[in-house]
Amino acid sequence: MAEGDPIEDWAPQGIDVTVPSIARVYDAMLGGKDNFASDRAVAEKIRSVLPISADSAWQHREVLARGVRYLAAQGIDQFLDLGSGLPTVQNTHQVAQADNPAARVVYVDNDPIVLAHGRALLAGDANTAVITADLREPDDVLSRPEVRELIDLDRPLGVLMIGVLHHLGDEEDPAGLVKRYVDAVVPGSHLFITHFKAQPPVTDEMERIFLSMLGTGRFRTLEEISAYFDGLELVEPGVVELPLWRPDEPVEDSPAAENPSRLIAAGVGRKV
Ligand SMILES: C[S@@+](CC[C@H](N)C(=O)[O-])C[C@H]1O[C@@H](n2cnc3c(N)ncnc32)[C@H](O)[C@@H]1O
Repeated sequence: MAEGDPIEDWAPQGIDVTVPSIARVYDAMLGGKDNFASDRAVAEKIRSVLPISADSAWQHREVLARGVRYLAAQGIDQFLDLGSGLPTVQNTHQVAQADNPAARVVYVDNDPIVLAHGRALLAGDANTAVITADLREPDDVLSRPEVRELIDLDRPLGVLMIGVLHHLGDEEDPAGLVKRYVDAVVPGSHLFITHFKAQPPVTDEMERIFLSMLGTGRFRTLEEISAYFDGLELVEPGVVELPLWRPDEPVEDSPAAENPSRLIAAGVGRKV
């Protein structure tokens, strides 16, 4: 830990804070306080290559809220948020429960620091839980007591994979994992994905930084991302760059490579 780092007192035991974590790097990108020097080094490196990446992180949080509101409007009242990250503003349960206080949310993340922070945020909220689990183990995730208690797999579910599939390598078969979750849910369920989008040459350099400093971070093409929705009915406007996914107000698109909206794509599919 860097000298003078003010957060020693909250570092959960057993966590090596000299090794950056995806959740904490993302928190640093969003300007949060739940990160360490090792995480900030990665965030700063990414920003130095591409200053617009911070805007992209915020666009990402905004599309999460728009997507959850869309799902809620379709009658979805239970959500499985896989790779949920550290709590920040407009968390899934807050967006979902703003429309429907009875909405249920289970947050799943494999970084134990998320559990530590999530528990504090969720104290007293009986409709929301956070668990430490690996989304690459769907059977384990779906059989956890918190999931079984809050989520009824016989009713439509909102499955969220927001900013997480790009942290899986091709050899981990992300498409196969998505299918495992889709197979486990009933028709009427929705799959909501956001994913780093390949935009060479800028994202080639970002991918190199992610892989060397964090060990994960794959920028995939729109075609590759769209393939996660195979077998589902893709909701309009399909898999598109973040600001173009059902914006609240008309947006002006710019084809410039420096446009932060080029870095991440979003899509929602419905099981029929
Ligand atoms: C970039 S953050 C995104 C957080 C949140 N979904 C959002 O969009 O604000 C990705 C999160 O996925 C988690 N993660 C990465 N691999 C995972 C895995 N195999 N299982 C569960 N969570 C994972 C990380 O710990 C991190 O918190």
